[in-house]
Amino acid sequence: MIEIIGVTKRFGDTVAVDDFSLTIAEGTLTVLLGPSGCGKTTTLRAINRMVEIDSGQILIGGRDTRAQDANQLRRNIGYGIQSVGLFPHMTVARNIATVPRLLGWDAKRIAARVEELLEMVGLDPAVYLPKRPHQLSGGEAQRVGVARALAADPPVLLLDEPFGALDPLTRARLQTEFGRLQKVLRKTVLFVTHDVEEALTLADTIALMRDGRLAQSGPPEQLWLDPADDFVRSFFGEELSLRMQIAAMRGRDG
Ligand SMILES: Nc1ncnc2c1ncn2[C@@H]1O[C@H](COP(=O)(O)OP(=O)(O)O)[C@@H](O)[C@H]1O
Ligand SMILES: [Mg+2]
Repeated sequence: MIEIIGVTKRFGDTVAVDDFSLTIAEGTLTVLLGPSGCGKTTTLRAINRMVEIDSGQILIGGRDTRAQDANQLRRNIGYGIQSVGLFPHMTVARNIATVPRLLGWDAKRIAARVEELLEMVGLDPAVYLPKRPHQLSGGEAQRVGVARALAADPPVLLLDEPFGALDPLTRARLQTEFGRLQKVLRKTVLFVTHDVEEALTLADTIALMRDGRLAQSGPPEQLWLDPADDFVRSFFGEELSLRMQIAAMRGRDG
């Protein structure tokens, strides 16, 4: 479980996150949704302490994240981003093995885990192990990014617009596959996006953010059927009922 309690973060005069509270239940996927600049990335990065907060508290499994060594903390948190951030000079195999190597796993265990992860994200190990990032398509690189985030089997996953840079078809396919994977893995996930359909496809809970604050959180249907205010209503828009049906169809296919 991740508990974000009254968190505020300022950059100079900008209040990026403003007294924000949210609880992400164990084994569930919460989508942090909202317009560009509303504070999603800052909130996400506060959890693994890539951003240090000004006030409030973040607990993971009941432990204050600031009471732990930041590097230690990050080894228990998988992190994936839109630009993937693969190390360009390293093979796919070494990229995925980054955290297990830091954790001191032996070579045999790392090799077995890397193969297992590539298969999990739908890439043939024989083909992809030796490749370098510049030899991958956007979708392949994103799969490798997800594999790397999962490498040491962390209980918590933070994903920041992980499929944002992909064409719509590849994106939809990876969303479906990731949704299927999450049903099996049951990680505690905070997934940032500004895309309503993506949120509806993946979320157990949606937390909609506006100007650093929580506008509303709850199961997707609740935000749709019982919006807290006009902002929530207008964010989902009138096509929402159609989008919900599309998302449900994708979910059934998945
Ligand atoms: N390192 C930074 N320095 C200054 N301002 C920042 C920094 N990071 C984010 N901000 C500002 O904080 C606000 C929230 O940004 P961000 O969390 O990236 O939003 P989102 O991910 O929702 O688009 C924006 O106004 C942004 O310009
Ligand atoms: Mg962002």
